[in-house]
Amino acid sequence: MRRKLVVGNWKMNGSRLANAELLAGLEEAGPFDADVAVCPPLVYLSEVALSLQGKRTAWGAQDCSARDSGAYTGEVSAAMLAEFGCKYVIVGHSERRALHAESDQLVADKAKAALAHHLTPIVCVGETLAEREAGQTDVVVKRQMSAVIHTLGHCISQIVVAYEPVWAIGTGKTATPEQAQAVHALLRTQLHAATPKSEEMQILYGGSVKPDNAATLFSQPDIDGGLIGGASLKAADFAAICRAAA
Ligand code: 13P
Repeated sequence: MRRKLVVGNWKMNGSRLANAELLAGLEEAGPFDADVAVCPPLVYLSEVALSLQGKRTAWGAQDCSARDSGAYTGEVSAAMLAEFGCKYVIVGHSERRALHAESDQLVADKAKAALAHHLTPIVCVGETLAEREAGQTDVVVKRQMSAVIHTLGHCISQIVVAYEPVWAIGTGKTATPEQAQAVHALLRTQLHAATPKSEEMQILYGGSVKPDNAATLFSQPDIDGGLIGGASLKAADFAAICRAAA
C-alpha cells in the first residue's frame, strides 16, 4: 500500500505572522496518518524549517535551479535547499512553465539537480483547457513526463509526480475523480515501462482540492495524495485534507 502524501504549495502567499499561525494551527490539528509537507516562499524557508524542527511535517521549496552555482541572479540551487533541511522541491509547476517559459527539458534538469542533492522533486505535469478540449491531454502529459524519464533514467522511481490540470488550478473547477484517475493511471503505465518500482511511486493530484472533495479524489486507486494551493493557506482546511488522506 502506498502511503498518502499531502503537500501545501503556499505559492507567493503568507507573512511571518500568518505563517506562524498557520503552522501552529496545523500542529494543533495533527498528527495525521499521512506524509505532510509545506512549501513556503523561499524567503521564509529557514524560519519555517526552524519551527518544524523535530515535528512530523516536512518542508520544501517551490522551485530550484538546474545549475549548481554561478552567475544566475535570483536563482537558488538544490544544494542550498538541502542545507536548510528541505525534503521536497516542486519543479515544473504550470505557473512556472507558463510565466517563466520553462521547457520540459529544463524541468527534467531541475528534477535531476534535486535528486543529486538528495531532495525529492515533485514533478508537475498537466494540460491546459485548450489542450483538453482538443483531446490532447494524454499526449501532453506523456510528453512532459517523458522528458523527465529520459533525463533521470532508473532514478525516475525516486520522484513524486503531481498531475495538475491547468484549468483546475485556482479556478474552483476540480477534475472529477474519474478524470483525474484516468490520467494518473496513464502516468503510472508510462512509469511502469521505465521502472520496476512504478507501483511504489506517489502520484499526487492538484487543482482546487478542498476539504469537501479530497476524500473522493484520494480514494481513487492511483491518486496518492494532493498538491494543495489555496486550501493549504488555512490550517483548518489543510488539516481536513490531510485527514482525508489518512
Ligand atoms: P489550488 O489548490 O489553489 O487550485 O492550486 C493548486 C496548485 O497549483 C498546487 O500546486
